[in-house]
Amino acid sequence: MEEKFKSDAFEAIHSAASGMKKIGIITKESTHQFDESCIKNTEYMIETSFFNSVSDAASRVYDRACRTDFSAPGFALLRQSHIKDSLQHRKELVELKDALSDIHQNKSGNKLGWFTMSRFDQKNTTKLHRDGGPDQSLLILGYEPTSVQCEVSMADYSKCAFDLKITPEEFLERHNPMHEEGLELLNPYIFKLTEFDTSAYQILIVNNSNCPFKTENPHWRGVLHGAVIESSSAPRIINSTSVCPVNPGDEEGVSPERIEEFLQENAKLADYV
Ligand SMILES: [Fe+2]
Repeated sequence: MEEKFKSDAFEAIHSAASGMKKIGIITKESTHQFDESCIKNTEYMIETSFFNSVSDAASRVYDRACRTDFSAPGFALLRQSHIKDSLQHRKELVELKDALSDIHQNKSGNKLGWFTMSRFDQKNTTKLHRDGGPDQSLLILGYEPTSVQCEVSMADYSKCAFDLKITPEEFLERHNPMHEEGLELLNPYIFKLTEFDTSAYQILIVNNSNCPFKTENPHWRGVLHGAVIESSSAPRIINSTSVCPVNPGDEEGVSPERIEEFLQENAKLADYV
């Protein structure tokens, strides 16, 4: 990823503001404003302890993940350094979805509804892929701390398709990166998440869309995801959810009982398939 700050001057301003926060001259809210002004929205890492609430962080997540052009990455990584247990982590994941839904409703009139929700121990390496789901969808993946090391990557297959003057769907049909030829084409669009920290609770938000391009009321533009995971017998728990825009009155794919179960202290792990 390129430089984090908009310019050297903005970096200097941001550094001065961070120093003032440390010694208590300015508040967390003011620092957040400096952050918004100085840091590019291409920066995918978001530290939640920097915000007063998840909904404060959600607008930053929305701008980066729910993109309708190529000025944002199409994903965001929330590091929850202040979270110490799985239950709090899952609660914050559900709060984040609700906050993202509010933002989306304000913008489009439609809420974001749950499409899937599961919890499992996942240690299989996965090639770059799009998860099954509606053409416009968002993955909200909660990672619990683990000793199992991994390297997570994203690939801007929408941009690659755009540059090839084909649709994202056509790209996956003709040049799927599961095969060598597709992977080679996609190579310049692959980005490794070097900030991914297996020692912390984290939430990775991935735009999983597969829509054709249009200029009026543009759709979300998705990215592919994949991970190389070391072989280990230690647990690597993922709280895996996805959401999609829903029309008023439409039913969500996950029942309220399932959400309640997901938010139980010892919510069961499903088999990873
Ligand atoms: Fe996946």
